[in-house]
Amino acid sequence: MKILAIETSCDETAIAILECSGDSKSATFSILGNALISQIDIHKEYGGVFPALAKREHAKNLVPILEAALEEAELLKEDTQIISEGTRAKISEILAREPGLCEVFLDFISESERPDIDAIAVTQGPGLEPALWVGINFAKALATIWNKPLIAVNHMEGHILAALAQQEAPSTKSEEPNKSQAEKLKIENPQFPILALLISGGHTELVLMREWLNYELVGETRDDAVGEAFDKVARMLSLPYPGGPEISKLAEEFRLSGPTPKFSLPRPMIHDNNFDFSFAGLKTAVMNLIKNESASATGFSETKKKAIALEFENAVTDVLWHKTSRALEETGAQTLVIGGGVSANTHIQRTFIEKIKNDHPQVDLRIPSASLSTDNAVMIALAGYYRYLRNEFSTDFKANGNSPLI
Ligand code: KG4
Ligand code: ZN
Repeated sequence: MKILAIETSCDETAIAILECSGDSKSATFSILGNALISQIDIHKEYGGVFPALAKREHAKNLVPILEAALEEAELLKEDTQIISEGTRAKISEILAREPGLCEVFLDFISESERPDIDAIAVTQGPGLEPALWVGINFAKALATIWNKPLIAVNHMEGHILAALAQQEAPSTKSEEPNKSQAEKLKIENPQFPILALLISGGHTELVLMREWLNYELVGETRDDAVGEAFDKVARMLSLPYPGGPEISKLAEEFRLSGPTPKFSLPRPMIHDNNFDFSFAGLKTAVMNLIKNESASATGFSETKKKAIALEFENAVTDVLWHKTSRALEETGAQTLVIGGGVSANTHIQRTFIEKIKNDHPQVDLRIPSASLSTDNAVMIALAGYYRYLRNEFSTDFKANGNSPLI
């Protein structure tokens, strides 16, 4: 079956079309179309994501992104469609809060054939509500006009499934050698329990899955999310948004240059007898360090900036690893997944790969590929398919900025 998935929870407008088959034990996916527009350059000016602007950009991007994804999937066929007054009125009602989008949407629909899609999945939350609403209303309009079932997806479930998915090597025998082959993913028989370390701009939590799509909260942040801490510390260091990749780059430069930083930052709650996290204190410690270093005789140099980036990244990684390692012991998890935008961090990945090999060799570690770690619509399609297999369709649902997994 083919699923079309829409993601607009934050600053990425994304639509993916996947051919899905198999059951939850062994599922395979072909990415037929995958289109994404990042709004990062627009939000950079504000040092973070500005919700009203995100909503406006999603509304502007959705139809072009839909066309691009359908085109890539070879499902875009020009055709004149007559839209009845009744349907027009229904769509206008669904997209009442997006009048610009409504007009472009109806134009697009009246000029293209209904594609061969079996279901539509869309992120319901968590995320920025104004941004989520645009995607949801757009999905509802598509489901209405194409008469397809609609699936509401939890964004964090998407991150978990994207981490579980493994890339399949492209087949060497291609029937059409000049045609690029669709990227293939598979989720095959992961061993339960599965522990997920979810680290993104809005979340930091350890979640246990004893059976498919059934979650228990093991630990979570008591204040800032890891990605948020990366972004805030980056701002203190005058680095652009999003801060994670910028800090990672500076830290790596300092690491390769040889010396170790002459200062140390706290590892909050690292030895506490629980699985919770706290990053607000670490952020304040960085602020104080910058103040002290700026007031020192040598002043605040580029080298010190890199050293702070490194020490911050090391502190975060130490805490994440210690808590995760103890959670693995306590829960007896057989599989560990790291999901969410911060899982793209090279140092975190390297540390986890090495430590799992040494300390928990029986654990199967799954890290998403680079393109699947930050927000995308492929992960929404994966989660959508697992919900589709359970016949979990919804027609009337609302955006939920805090949508819980558990
Ligand atoms: O999952 P995501 O794309 O969006 C949310 O759902 O929040 O995560 C975005 C977060 C941002 O805070 C960003 O700074 C962080 O992921 N991030 C990174 C890296 N790439 C993205 N943090 C550390 N290192 C990276 N390489
Ligand atoms: Zn995310």
